[in-house]
Amino acid sequence: MATTRVVFSAFLLLSSFVLLLSPPSCDAHPLKACMFDSIYQFGDSISDTGNLIRERPIAATSVFARLPYGETFFKNATGRCSNGLLMIDYVALAAGLPFLNPYRNIDADFSHGVNFAVAGSTALKTSVLAGMNIFSPVTNTSLDVQLDLMFTHFNSTCYTDSDCSEKLKRALFMVGEIGGNDYNFALSGGKTIEEAKSIVPDVVQAIKDAARRVIGYGALRVVVPGNFPIGCLPIYLSRFQTTNSAAYDEQHCLKGLNDFAKYHNDHLQKAIEELRQENPNAFIVYGDYYNAFQWLVQNAPLLGFDVASVQKACCGIGGDYDFSLTKMCGNPGVPVCADPSSRISWDGIHLTQEAYKFMAGWLIGDILPKFHCGG
Ligand SMILES: *[C@@H]1O[C@H](CO)[C@@H](O)[C@H](O)[C@H]1NC(C)=O
Ligand SMILES: *[C@@H]1O[C@H](CO)[C@@H](O)[C@H](O)[C@H]1NC(C)=O
Ligand SMILES: *[C@@H]1O[C@H](CO)[C@@H](O)[C@H](O)[C@H]1NC(C)=O
Repeated sequence: MATTRVVFSAFLLLSSFVLLLSPPSCDAHPLKACMFDSIYQFGDSISDTGNLIRERPIAATSVFARLPYGETFFKNATGRCSNGLLMIDYVALAAGLPFLNPYRNIDADFSHGVNFAVAGSTALKTSVLAGMNIFSPVTNTSLDVQLDLMFTHFNSTCYTDSDCSEKLKRALFMVGEIGGNDYNFALSGGKTIEEAKSIVPDVVQAIKDAARRVIGYGALRVVVPGNFPIGCLPIYLSRFQTTNSAAYDEQHCLKGLNDFAKYHNDHLQKAIEELRQENPNAFIVYGDYYNAFQWLVQNAPLLGFDVASVQKACCGIGGDYDFSLTKMCGNPGVPVCADPSSRISWDGIHLTQEAYKFMAGWLIGDILPKFHCGG
């Protein structure tokens, strides 16, 4: 039986009231101070706005290409792995820019940036992962491939390299979240957490290389997000469910997996610090998804989430977490909860629009001062 204890403290209550009373609630466009005119996103299903469903061979066969994905906001599946908007959509809104179009939609308008993220994508090349006996089943468009696509795109949109770097001064770059799938595929393929730890330096290096490439090209403001506390997600809670209560923390998340996510995040933050030393003129900011998510869970009741189902998937069935690998969201007979806005988890892996909205608000508040926009 999954019991969820939501810990309250005066501090948390205070911090959420502060959030509710201050930006982004009052100011719908808090990122406007940065005067971004475009956004470039790299990543996986956390930020894919329609690439995977246009990529062969998966394309339209993906569950993300059909309802109930997209049911809440677009009333149609767009390829977003949620019921509605993603964090990147809220970031675009906060910057006063249109939603970011997926690169694979060749008819789309890219005048305000491009989304290169592909659901299922990895930080390491598929072939490199294969050499470690890690099978990447969904896409070969790993981070380096996404970067190559960006250079192809810029080759066709900038006249010269200096023209490009001039344009990119007003661009926001999101390098991730990426790398989560490298670990997901390692763990789902039977590797232990200790074994997964051994690939962390390579994964972090791949992310660092990508950030270095965009900065080398002229990017001035770059967000490099870390991983979620994956021990709180229904997919992991059900796979590693145990009767050993010592395996769980006070939020009923699996400690070992959360510690593993922290281990990656610690390495990533060291890499970001090194990038800052190398590039004193760029603003390279860590996107703290881990603590944004923890804040969300700790404040779930105040934010309007159903406390009894904080760890249950809205779209899914089976076990204590309404999640089963063999009957996932989007398949026949898999139910959707009555009120997705009362849930944090959408399909056991990805979050609901409501959860992403609050996480994005927290993240923008955290990142904005570090960008030093508007003097
Ligand atoms: C729904 O989205 C698909 C792409 O995923 C698009 O082809 C289709 O035209 C959309 N339908 C509506 C009614 O907007
Ligand atoms: C990835 O590339 C390999 C080798 O070219 C190919 O066999 C495989 O089908 C590709 N996978 C996907 C999902 O595109
Ligand atoms: C971009 O253009 C340059 C110069 O024409 C060329 O050397 C480079 O290979 C091109 N890159 C891509 C990714 O198309």
